[in-house]
Amino acid sequence: MPASSTPLLCVGDYEDYAKDKLPAMVEDYFMAGSSSEQTVKENTLVYKRYRFRPRVLKDVSKRDMSTTVLGSPVSCPVGVAPMSMCRMAHLDGEMGIAKACERHQLPFGLSTVSTFSIEDIAVGTPNSVRWFQLYIFKERRLTETLVRRAEASGFSALVLTVDAPFAGRRLSTMRGGFTLPGHLRLPNIDASDGIFKSLRTDAAKVPYLEVVGSQLDPSITWDDVKWLLNFSRLPVIVKGVLNAEDARKAVSHGAAAIWVSNHGGRQLDSVPTSLDVLAEVVDAVGGCCEVYVDGGVRSGYDVIKAIAIGARAAFIGRPALWGLVHKGTEGVVNLLQLVKDEVDNAMALLGISNLGELNRSYVTHESLLPKL
Ligand SMILES: Cc1cc2nc3c(=O)[nH]c(=O)nc-3n(C[C@H](O)[C@H](O)[C@H](O)COP(=O)(O)O)c2cc1C
Repeated sequence: MPASSTPLLCVGDYEDYAKDKLPAMVEDYFMAGSSSEQTVKENTLVYKRYRFRPRVLKDVSKRDMSTTVLGSPVSCPVGVAPMSMCRMAHLDGEMGIAKACERHQLPFGLSTVSTFSIEDIAVGTPNSVRWFQLYIFKERRLTETLVRRAEASGFSALVLTVDAPFAGRRLSTMRGGFTLPGHLRLPNIDASDGIFKSLRTDAAKVPYLEVVGSQLDPSITWDDVKWLLNFSRLPVIVKGVLNAEDARKAVSHGAAAIWVSNHGGRQLDSVPTSLDVLAEVVDAVGGCCEVYVDGGVRSGYDVIKAIAIGARAAFIGRPALWGLVHKGTEGVVNLLQLVKDEVDNAMALLGISNLGELNRSYVTHESLLPKL
């Protein structure tokens, strides 16, 4: 771990710091992948296999990394993915991430399983580009209520997570007997009656993951995307797509955007990395909607590789938690700043002045490099 006086200069420094500080049970929960953890490991390694192909002697004295996501202006094509129970990293939790994103004008997703409520986040970050991540529960009334609350609270899109009809088998979390720490609550679902009521009264003793996991509706189909679009006025981003066939279905069922994701390696193990299937998805939708990507993004250089392949924006998950562990809200602000600095540096050294110039000719898979 870097000494306390040593500045944290890359996301890896934050990771080392966080791993040293977090209690074992929380670290296990945050870091866990499913089953053999092949996908979670590959998610970060894959970025090393794509190499830059820079151009030289181009005027890069002025650079612009701003863009838009679903029409909202953002300062850089990076955001923070929805993650459950962020207050286990620091009491600033999801509010800290939301404030950091608001300060940088970057998008973020609030998890259904958040430790701050939808309404808290709206009041605390009135100018944020905020999207609400949705699970479809067996109890449809609960899902509908969450959508109404997100609409009323100024969230500008729904992120429908489609890779979780059941929870993945995260062995480290199962072995550690994870439970939600007693001082934390899940206000989005606590506020509902019915099945989740027990969490409100006895959170520390409830096998939380099993209860929430058992309430995910495994019978959902593409028709449910239409169901959602029928009663919500918010655009729907479909998160968890990993192939061309599903990407095309998402478009034909009305998705406003596709989020290529393997849930940070926490659902089905041994699926490909998001980066490896990104080009397939981008090509399948042929510009009909925006495509986002997450999983293993650990630097601004990774962000630029994803944008060059065709993503509109790349999202970080766990790194935001490590920022929280370091210094709460300020830690996430600093971490996002360093990622933005890296994006800027990558652009300058690649020879591009704005994101519109980026294309696949600026990256190549190492297997395609000329062999001597
Ligand atoms: C601790 C943790 C909790 C997560 N909770 C959710 C969630 O509630 N909903 C969801 O759609 N994705 C969730 N994810 C997946 C993230 O949205 C994202 O896909 C993933 O973290 C990106 O990979 P990365 O952590 O390698 O950057 C979670 C991921 C982590 C690490």
